[in-house]
Amino acid sequence: MSLIDVRDLWKTYVMGAEEVHALRGVSLTITKGEFVAIMGPSGSGKSTLMNLLGCLDTPSRGEYFLNDQAVADMDEDELARIRNKEIGFVFQTFNLLPRSSSLHNVELPLIYNGTPRERRLEMAHQALDIVGLADRTNHKPNELSGGQRQRVAIARALVNNPSIILADEPTGNLDSTTSMDIMNLLTQLNQQGNTLIVVTHETDIARFAHRIIYLFDGKIAREERKKDDQTPDASVDQDQGFSSTDTRLDEQSDTQKIHQPDQSHT
Ligand SMILES: Nc1ncnc2c1ncn2[C@@H]1O[C@H](COP(=O)(O)OP(=O)(O)OP(=O)(O)O)[C@@H](O)[C@H]1O
Ligand SMILES: [Mg+2]
Repeated sequence: MSLIDVRDLWKTYVMGAEEVHALRGVSLTITKGEFVAIMGPSGSGKSTLMNLLGCLDTPSRGEYFLNDQAVADMDEDELARIRNKEIGFVFQTFNLLPRSSSLHNVELPLIYNGTPRERRLEMAHQALDIVGLADRTNHKPNELSGGQRQRVAIARALVNNPSIILADEPTGNLDSTTSMDIMNLLTQLNQQGNTLIVVTHETDIARFAHRIIYLFDGKIAREERKKDDQTPDASVDQDQGFSSTDTRLDEQSDTQKIHQPDQSHT
């Protein structure tokens, strides 16, 4: 059974007279416990797809089934519950409240869902402990390093023990050592059973995943699976621990383009 089942998803932004097709027919299934990386050039639709998967935005066309339930049929209460309880979102820019302590930032989702204060503080302390920040609970974001801020954001994402963690370039603003720490942390969460979807521009980061999905121009161009992945349709043949499973691109030139590491973010 798929946890996430997305069928022919389109997202079109209307800007005056112009239409921007950010997604142009994305179909994709993700099973519970998977760790998927999403790569692709700037503007290829990665954040748009993440926002749809996180129920933060609605598609222009297509269907999204979460746990076999059509997201389009859910009412606002159900969507709010899913955003609060089922999905943890980690944003590239952290999105922390600047004037609040780490503890309060992590506690926020629990305030929204009405968890009693004592239980809330216990859970927030526990989440900060998991990310190694037990000694930084009273620090405000500007009193923390970039890596520590990102860890607060991860603690906030996991405080409700969501079944899905969506991370949009969680290491985009971090040095390579801190990036590896964050990825090790996310990998641990995945090994404990959380489904993990990470957008990244960096091949080193994507290698942590079981599967890499390449977006190009609003479509899935290609997918790679780790060689030791036991999924039946994984064909084992390529180097570097990953094997290609799927090519949906019409044009060879696009395939060549997306094989290149993206240089647009430095
Ligand atoms: N709110 C919006 N209104 C209009 N166009 C948008 C909006 N959000 C995104 N777009 C356009 O949709 C396309 C996909 O954007 P998206 O943010 O998903 O790209 P991305 O792959 O995440 O890029 P990056 O790697 O730079 O973060 C882009 O061309 C962008 O300009
Ligand atoms: Mg983006």
